[in-house]
Amino acid sequence: MPRALITGIAGQDGSYLAEWLLARDYEVHGIVRESSCLKRLQSFKARLVLHCADLNDSATVRRILTETAPDEVYHLGGQSHVGLSFEQAEATCESIAIGTLRLLEMIRALPQPPRFFNASSSEVFGRPETSPQDEQTPFRPATPYGCAKAFATQMVVIERHTFGLFACNGILYNHESPRRGDNFVTQKICRAAAAIKQGRQQELSLGNLSSQRDWGDAREYVQAMWLMLQQATPADYVLATGKLHSVQAVVETAFAAVGLNWRDYVKMDPRFMRPEDPARLVGNPAKAEKILGWRPIASFTRLITEMTLSALETAPA
Ligand code: NAP
Ligand code: GDD
Repeated sequence: MPRALITGIAGQDGSYLAEWLLARDYEVHGIVRESSCLKRLQSFKARLVLHCADLNDSATVRRILTETAPDEVYHLGGQSHVGLSFEQAEATCESIAIGTLRLLEMIRALPQPPRFFNASSSEVFGRPETSPQDEQTPFRPATPYGCAKAFATQMVVIERHTFGLFACNGILYNHESPRRGDNFVTQKICRAAAAIKQGRQQELSLGNLSSQRDWGDAREYVQAMWLMLQQATPADYVLATGKLHSVQAVVETAFAAVGLNWRDYVKMDPRFMRPEDPARLVGNPAKAEKILGWRPIASFTRLITEMTLSALETAPA
């Protein structure tokens, strides 16, 4: 039975990846924090082995790695909010940049180094000169989060080349689902449309409505993470849909799903504008399609509609 260890298992991607691995008869271990909310794991938690640690606590993480001796490590944990990274730049770099370096160094010291997946981000490209971006596009991060991810991504490449680790980066563009955190724009909009429909909320305040992103479905992206670690050789892959949509398009789709006119409820609030916001981030997933046989399937409209209807169903009584 193969054994996997997932950092950030309580998050959106961690929860879907855990289910995917359980369905393939893996023994699945995960790292959570004392304060982690385990709601996303609720229906299958009994089949997981959970370990408590902060990624900044080297001694505990090293002990978990040694004791579990995994075949595969999926590194999904770390501060994941780009806007927050401007307020908490040092903590963001500690958890993403140094956190990833620590894990790589620990893995390298193990008698049987496991295969390693790192969740990199389109934010490493910042404001790129070319679109769409692929694995050859130069890194030009424009946010503290993007800068920390660029460091982590490059350390994965360095450890792979220098020490022969089977280590891969997934350069992930935005991916969403009904399990997306509330503070990301799609979920904020979908939950607000549902709450306004049900009379629990009166209006929705947003930042830049014209901002665009390449939004895919998280359930498809975790499959590609697994595929990367099943290949004969390690490599980095862009995971993206290749299509851009605006925040306003998310608003239009979510409010249409509940039969409301968004213009009656949505207002712009400068508090949600960012000091710097990467633009033209759209990815070319051709390499993932050619080598992994992975292709994004979900349509933007279907995804946002599903998230909104799910928010209606799971609304507090
Ligand atoms: P998420 O829902 O925010 O999950 C992140 C997880 O990391 C959470 O469970 C969190 O634990 C854990 N974590 C944060 N800091 C930690 C620390 N210091 N020690 C231990 N655990 C810590 O994020 P996601 O959407 O699943 O994304 C997974 C990974 O992919 C992240 O690294 C993210 O940066 C990256 N990524 C995501 C996207 C996307 O669109 N979703 C795109 C590109 C890259 P708590 O539950 O305790 O807070
Ligand atoms: N969160 C949020 N809240 N974003 C808003 C809002 C708002 O009220 N109003 C407008 N936006 C805009 C942001 O400025 C950004 O341009 C866009 O909506 C998407 O914001 P998020 O959903 O927070 O995602 P992100 O693109 O900043 O970061 C996500 O994707 C990255 C990959 O490109 C995260 O999942 C990162 O972890 C990930 O690396």
